[in-house]
Amino acid sequence: MFSYRHAFHAGNHADVLKHFVLVQLLEYLNQKDTPYTYIDTHSGAGVYTLDEKFAAKTAEYTTGIGKLWTRDDIPAPLQAFADIIHEMNPSGKLRYYPGSPFIAERVARDEDRLRLFEMHPADAKLLADNFRELDAHKAAQGYRPTVRGKRVIIERSDGFASLKALLPPPSRRALVLIDPPYEDKNDYRYVADMLKDSLGRFPAGVYAVWYPILQRIESRQFADKLKRLPCKEWLNVSLTTRTPGPDGALHSSGMFILNPPYTLEPLLREVMPYLVQLLGTDAGATFVIQKGAPVTGAAHERFTAEGKARTPVHSPIGKGSLRVRGQAPAGEERKPASAPNTGTRSGSRAASGGDATTGARADAGRRTSRPAGDRPAGDRPANSRAAGGRPSGDRPAGAGARGPAKPRRSS
Ligand SMILES: C[S@@+](CC[C@H](N)C(=O)[O-])C[C@H]1O[C@@H](n2cnc3c(N)ncnc32)[C@H](O)[C@@H]1O
Repeated sequence: MFSYRHAFHAGNHADVLKHFVLVQLLEYLNQKDTPYTYIDTHSGAGVYTLDEKFAAKTAEYTTGIGKLWTRDDIPAPLQAFADIIHEMNPSGKLRYYPGSPFIAERVARDEDRLRLFEMHPADAKLLADNFRELDAHKAAQGYRPTVRGKRVIIERSDGFASLKALLPPPSRRALVLIDPPYEDKNDYRYVADMLKDSLGRFPAGVYAVWYPILQRIESRQFADKLKRLPCKEWLNVSLTTRTPGPDGALHSSGMFILNPPYTLEPLLREVMPYLVQLLGTDAGATFVIQKGAPVTGAAHERFTAEGKARTPVHSPIGKGSLRVRGQAPAGEERKPASAPNTGTRSGSRAASGGDATTGARADAGRRTSRPAGDRPAGDRPANSRAAGGRPSGDRPAGAGARGPAKPRRSS
């Protein structure tokens, strides 16, 4: 049951997509004075060490944040995310990567609340330890909370079951991140059921779902299922970094947002071509952006890797899926354009420029969830303080606008 450890995957291309979108959603919520609640139903450990044990073993971060964080040509909307990584790694060596709770802690304001759920006993403890140490660090820097009550509440409990008690939130503003492991194929159903229930309780909430794009049927049908949920609008963005290979490693993932801010789509159009170019490793690299409204079933658009809008396509009333002649519906498998793994970026761009969706949904993976090395021999990655802690030279210099926000314990 507890075989998944996110430390193996921290900072990979899927995390880059997820965390970039997360920053955008939080920044949008920050634009209004009314406080909001950030709810993370599957939080993970909060902070990950990349150069030791779990993450070092798979080195998945080299497919994602490792390629991004030192670039000097990062598009403006991606910069805030890159800045968080720089703040965590002031020595200039990439050692620490923030999970979604730490990203939210960093971007949300003092008056906003964080409600974090994590079931794995080791990761729940690490998460709590990380926030304890962060609080101690902030206090040592002279930071004093400006609002009453606990800003961050962490629970070791089932995020699927716990969400309903928080909805609607007192301020009637909330962002819910739903990011389960999907090792258990039932997770797809749990997510859809939970969203249906949550939209009934709190229709105005912003709900962001990360999902892997895999061969298994639950994955292939997932986005289309979410498009039928009774939200006002949805937006679906996927990033594919390569043609699926026999290794079964995750090559493609998506973020599905219910009730997305209107600002998100233009930002994605600006950033996704850059991510494809930077993180793509062969001609199968591509992105897809779709949006729609389940009530009318209309107003869908796809964008090519060059960011050009295709002719808007109207899907059948009541069905949120999109069909373009010659393309597979989202979530449906297609054979990839035969593209040798050139390992070059130019190769990937050239081939993906005309039709961003060609081959995007094929998956040769044999795994059924987030792949690669989810079953560690030991329970806890090194690099916690017990294993030596964070060298002081690497401690983030500290205080942003809202005070220092850097961890000393990681997973
Ligand atoms: C993909 S990781 C989360 C990563 C994190 N959201 C991030 O972006 O940094 C999924 C986490 O969900 C936890 N988990 C699995 N089932 C859960 C459940 N029913 N409720 C809460 N957490 C769960 C796993 O232990 C794992 O740490």
